[in-house]
Amino acid sequence: MKTKRRALLGAAICIGLGSTIAGLPAFAADKPLTLGFSQVGAESEWRTANTVSIKDAAKQAGVNLKFADAQQKQENQVKAIRSFIAQKVDVIAFSPVVESGWETVLREAKAAKIPVILTDRAVNVSDKSLYVTFIGSDFVEEGRRAARWLQEKAKTLPAGDINIVELQGTVGSAPAIDRKAGFEEIIKTDPRFKIIRSQTGDFTRAKGKEVMEAFLKADGKKINVLYAHNDDMAIGAIQAIEEAGMKPGKDILVISIDGVKGAFEAMMAGKLNVTVECSPLLGPQLMQIAKDVKAGKEVPKRITTEESVFPAEVAAKEFPNRKY
Ligand code: AHR
Repeated sequence: MKTKRRALLGAAICIGLGSTIAGLPAFAADKPLTLGFSQVGAESEWRTANTVSIKDAAKQAGVNLKFADAQQKQENQVKAIRSFIAQKVDVIAFSPVVESGWETVLREAKAAKIPVILTDRAVNVSDKSLYVTFIGSDFVEEGRRAARWLQEKAKTLPAGDINIVELQGTVGSAPAIDRKAGFEEIIKTDPRFKIIRSQTGDFTRAKGKEVMEAFLKADGKKINVLYAHNDDMAIGAIQAIEEAGMKPGKDILVISIDGVKGAFEAMMAGKLNVTVECSPLLGPQLMQIAKDVKAGKEVPKRITTEESVFPAEVAAKEFPNRKY
């Protein structure tokens, strides 16, 4: 297991086919690029860091950023994209709240010859030419990493079933779908693992706590492991576990994803066992790719962020290095 961050934020592994937008007018290098960005919302510590990264990077890169917060509603994102098209921005970027339902608006952007960049989350469209590139994490791999940590840990646990409860992210979102799939792919290889409950906590602390309270009410001491699709839900759930008179991190193992400072604090307090890193610091890379796209340069169709896994044992050492 890698415990050290392996790369700086800008570093990424690029895979997939390159692509350019045909028929774009040549970009005047002296004219600042206008980028329309539609953000999911402000549901988590991760999302806040992602917004800061995008706003700061735009300033640094001299990009004129038009930023819209969708408050976790797809309809708001569609409206924002339509408004960017009407304003004739140079490039549109967005982090889609859910995977499906984007064809129509993306076709409108294509007809207006405005290139679209996906950041953080993917869309499910059959026509891949509707977006130029997708910059973000491999969420399936994050789910696998969470499960691999549990596989190793299970070797030290007493024989018998290991009952897992799962707090899923926003229904229909790429990270919720992929993190579930990646986790299940690994744990199904060992019949000891049983997912006894799985429900959405919408990536928020409040919902994570509320759903965990219901899990505890139904199953209490039967629960051995909590797998939360993000740190915020895990932190909310930790509170619920403590209020139920149990010890998070000991009576119930807690596994989550993101690697935000709040998770490191919880690990240092012995309440969270591991966090799988998902970097929100996508701003600098987005600005560079937006400039390249506008200049007609070929860019990779998929740019995958390189990330690590942080178990509680390394939390105190790594904490001073955390940027979000
Ligand atoms: O899309 C990334 C996910 O969205 C992060 O894991 C979560 O914290 C956020 O809300």
